[in-house]
Amino acid sequence: MNKNLVFYIVLSVCIVVSFGFTCFYFMKALNYTVTVTAEQAKLSHDYHFVLIGQEFDNPYHKKVLEGAQTAAKEHDVLLEFIGPKQTNIDEHTKLIEMAIAARVDGILTQGLTNREFKPVIDKAISKGIPVITIDTDLEDSRRVAYVGTNNYEAGKQMGEALAEATNGEAKVAIVTGILYANNLMERVQGFLDVIENYPDIEVVAMESSNISQIQAAEKTYQMLRNHPEVTAFFGTSALDGIGIAQAVTKANLQEDILIFAFDDLEETMELMEQEKIFATLKQEPYEMGYQGVSLLVETMKGQPIPKINYTSLEVIYKEESR
Ligand code: BGC
Repeated sequence: MNKNLVFYIVLSVCIVVSFGFTCFYFMKALNYTVTVTAEQAKLSHDYHFVLIGQEFDNPYHKKVLEGAQTAAKEHDVLLEFIGPKQTNIDEHTKLIEMAIAARVDGILTQGLTNREFKPVIDKAISKGIPVITIDTDLEDSRRVAYVGTNNYEAGKQMGEALAEATNGEAKVAIVTGILYANNLMERVQGFLDVIENYPDIEVVAMESSNISQIQAAEKTYQMLRNHPEVTAFFGTSALDGIGIAQAVTKANLQEDILIFAFDDLEETMELMEQEKIFATLKQEPYEMGYQGVSLLVETMKGQPIPKINYTSLEVIYKEESR
């Protein structure tokens, strides 16, 4: 065979194979595949649900998943977990679209923003697929129910905790996961509504971390540089407090800075033990996942379920973490 021909055949095979791998890993990276068809699911399980997390590898969402898996086992549900690698509204809503196209029996998702999430949630409902919002509600949508924290109340409790700890005197910087996410906006609003009653507490800056620990640390550096008068930080989502604590520790300041965090991830609890984080608001992500799946099952069976299902919340301090 002509040498050139062999070369071109080998080259073409290599291109085809590498293109195949690229596509496969691209889809995998996005965690885009709803892997089970409706027919396959029906053969082996009573129901097929999809849980869509804001980030696939986020430790907070892994806790939601653990609870959801426990309930799924109890009720013979085939549960899939999918989510963007990094928080991304477009990808998140596309995943909801894909779950609708795969004709799953039920969907659990956050309702992060009204404009983008309402149309897809309502579309699922109009196709007969019940949606329960977890962690972040979208009251304006046709979702069947909400399971999660009362986020406005959680923000208020953080405001009260800060006011008490600082004797009503503080310059506060806020690191918030996402500026336009419903749950975090409610937390910030609750916080602001409380501290409004304290004339000597002032919020001097607010930045977004994109729910990333690294970005939370970066934003904290910048805020410390631009506002050296800051005496307290409020981190509104699970990884913010950890990022803030890293940056404050590195800055090695003379004055004490009080850090108020969200969630009781392992690292947050360790930082609280080391007195780097002053207080944190404990949510119940496991319970959200557990109740979310259980309520979806009840809905499938035609039983009425409450629209609003608040999980418990509590501000915890070092003493109570032992
Ligand atoms: C919030 C979630 C968010 C997570 C990010 C939690 O505090 O409730 O909505 O996705 O933080 O790490």
